[in-house]
Amino acid sequence: MTGLFITLEGPEGAGKSTNRDYLAECLRAQGVDVLLTREPGGTPLAERIRELLLATSDEAMCADTELLLVFAARAQHLAMVIRPALARGAVVLCDRFTDATYAYQGGGRGLSQERIATLESFVQGELRPDLTLVFDLPVEVGLARASARGRLDRFEQEGRVFFDAVRSTYLKRAAADPSRYRLVDAAQSLAQVQRSLDRLLPEILERHRG
Ligand SMILES: Nc1ncnc2c1ncn2[C@@H]1O[C@H](COP(=O)(O)OP(=O)(O)OP(=O)(O)O)[C@@H](O)[C@H]1O
Ligand SMILES: [Mg+2]
Repeated sequence: MTGLFITLEGPEGAGKSTNRDYLAECLRAQGVDVLLTREPGGTPLAERIRELLLATSDEAMCADTELLLVFAARAQHLAMVIRPALARGAVVLCDRFTDATYAYQGGGRGLSQERIATLESFVQGELRPDLTLVFDLPVEVGLARASARGRLDRFEQEGRVFFDAVRSTYLKRAAADPSRYRLVDAAQSLAQVQRSLDRLLPEILERHRG
């Protein structure tokens, strides 16, 4: 049995975590073994790397340092959590994965896609998500939802240009591979978003059952 690897992507405040929990509930109601996790993080060590990535500091973090930390956390997460869960046949619902690296470190920070692709192959081998849900919404709507939560982390403090690049990278990647990506209009009400996820459920169950 092989599992199904689903990632949820999109900017801050898009609703990834809220809808990841909703999808998990729907799948569990169907008797599916679901593993919920997130990046950067997902293991105690990888969560410590997450703290390094999100903390504001007097010392600016080099873009290459940021990229390598993201992939260091990912290597740990894959080995300890994601690969074992897929091997036992679970549906893995992961809040952010390598598409976020292309969007934030690639689009946002301006690192080359080729460099990211090199690390992607090095750390993941052939493993790619089976399905990626991209929660898309206007930059200012996401930022307003995120800032309503309180103090902003190192990424949330970036400006408009950064988040425009994040969004357009996600959209470009989704458009290039319609078999893997599903675009979700995250500016709709939560009830509407959940209805569009309900429509995806049969496809997810079918792919999982193979
Ligand atoms: N469709 C929606 N309409 C209005 N509010 C929403 C919607 N989806 C989520 N929210 C609210 O927006 C806030 C952010 O949602 P959530 O934490 O799920 O986003 P996220 O994508 O996980 O953000 P982050 O990347 O910062 O973790 C929450 O308060 C949530 O209740
Ligand atoms: Mg979240």
